[in-house]
Amino acid sequence: MKKLEGKTAFVTGAAGGIGLGLAKTFARAGMNIVIADIQDKQLKVAESELQEITDNVLALVVDTTDTGSIENAAEKVENTFGNLHVLCNNAGIGGGGKILETDQETWDRVFNVNFRGPLNGVNQFLPHMLEHGEESHIVNTASFSGIEGHGHQSAYGSSKFAMVGFSEFLRNDLAGTNVGVSVLCPHVVDTPIIANLKKRVDEKIAAMISDMAVPAETVGAQVMKAILANEFYVFCDGTHTRKMLENRCSNLIASMDRQFPQDDR
Ligand SMILES: NC(=O)c1ccc[n+]([C@@H]2O[C@H](COP(=O)([O-])OP(=O)(O)OC[C@H]3O[C@@H](n4cnc5c(N)ncnc54)[C@H](O)[C@@H]3O)[C@@H](O)[C@H]2O)c1
Repeated sequence: MKKLEGKTAFVTGAAGGIGLGLAKTFARAGMNIVIADIQDKQLKVAESELQEITDNVLALVVDTTDTGSIENAAEKVENTFGNLHVLCNNAGIGGGGKILETDQETWDRVFNVNFRGPLNGVNQFLPHMLEHGEESHIVNTASFSGIEGHGHQSAYGSSKFAMVGFSEFLRNDLAGTNVGVSVLCPHVVDTPIIANLKKRVDEKIAAMISDMAVPAETVGAQVMKAILANEFYVFCDGTHTRKMLENRCSNLIASMDRQFPQDDR
């Protein structure tokens, strides 16, 4: 997209954390903002924070796993602001450690929110974006855990890998249209999820996490830049994650080279 001012953004999981950071950045850029979240009370707090930036805010209680709930929201967005231009499928939850220690209910719940939710968002809003034909953009929040498999993150990490793959196929589908796609891959962002994590680890690790954490509004600025530049992968830091990305890429190439040495090709 070349211009955001006067356009409309719909951000899920926007009652706090990264979603609210995105919404604030978009609001400051002159966009109409729709914040959607399952948490009613927290959403009201977020709404009043956004009203300090702009009058053009609509707060909707939405469960992204429920297609009826998203459909209702889409109707309200259209009645209030008209066409939608930016969809941020950002709502997500954690869950799962080692694979054998993760129960069925956790796999289902995590995939429902982290994968089905964005799929529902795309199914609802993409036909509308293609139909109105104005420049638009979809941002799916994955994670750096969907780029490189570190630690023990069974359901969560797998759902985020699925979201990176989904976004790559969506990008292919939308090549040559007016709808751009980005996949947001944060490593550690300063949000309630991370604040809770810090309470469960020892002081040294908590300090390490704090050192890596990026503010949510910095992520907002990074996403806005990516929308304007039509950048596909959006990373939030280039220091702590660079080595992990290099290792993954070199391991992939090394495997191929071992199996198909260059001289044989
Ligand atoms: N914080 C990080 O370090 C980090 C790192 C990588 C990826 N992420 C991803 O970023 C996204 C936002 O995370 P955050 O850190 O801001 O967490 P957060 O918990 O502050 O925000 C997530 C929001 O999603 C909402 N939500 C959950 N299920 C929902 C549903 N079914 N329908 C609507 N809303 C729902 C929650 O109520 C919450 O407000 C998530 O997808 C998360 O996986 C976060």
